[in-house]
Amino acid sequence: MVGNWKMNGNLRENAELLAKVVAGWQGEHSAEVVICPPFPYLMHANSVLSGSTILLGAQTVSEHDSGAYTGEVSGSMLADLDCKFVIIGHNERRRMRSETDEQVAHQFAAVQRAGLIPILCVGESLQDREQGRHLETISRQLSAVFAYTGKAVFKHAVLAYEPVWAVGTGKTATPEQAEEVHRFMRAQLEELASEVRILYGGSVKAHNAQQLFALPDIDGALLGGASLDADEFLAICKAAD
Ligand code: PGA
Repeated sequence: MVGNWKMNGNLRENAELLAKVVAGWQGEHSAEVVICPPFPYLMHANSVLSGSTILLGAQTVSEHDSGAYTGEVSGSMLADLDCKFVIIGHNERRRMRSETDEQVAHQFAAVQRAGLIPILCVGESLQDREQGRHLETISRQLSAVFAYTGKAVFKHAVLAYEPVWAVGTGKTATPEQAEEVHRFMRAQLEELASEVRILYGGSVKAHNAQQLFALPDIDGALLGGASLDADEFLAICKAAD
């Protein structure tokens, strides 16, 4: 379960939210939980999460390792702050920051160079979906990374299917729609098919999580809105457990 806080929160709210989540997630669990706060709060979140089983992640990363890249954050900086995962290729960055498939491929490699695990997001627009081109889009987004890094490195990666039309809209893909794409993505991984975790993201809430997690090719969820509410987030994590 990956909570993507996006550009939300402040020190006081984060402290409250993290304290509630940590208190509600004591002991042993089979589900792995990751929280991805905005960059300025990583250090604070790391200190609150230390001693818990909840892991830390970041929401994006530079494709470069160091140098004159004002405003950018490198994989090694994230590793320094104990991040274990980095979300890359989120549709909000592909759309609002014009990140290309190639740039995402370079970010994927940068995350792995820093010893971290990329959570590679792919997903089609509403137009792609309506025109029946959703698998073509997913295939293009995945192929760009495969072409740059090869497939073997996906052993140390997580994939996330996030239909753009379902993110933050309250519309979730139907179980059939989600399962079709997850099965397709798994097939693209060939011999690694059974080893790579594939998350679903897009308006996952406590009331629809169980139905999605019951599907054979869905291994977890990437949660936006639901990760900002401790009770909702914990309910989904428990459903996954
Ligand atoms: P949402 O966001 O759960 O608010 O739809 C998911 C995401 O952007 O990862």
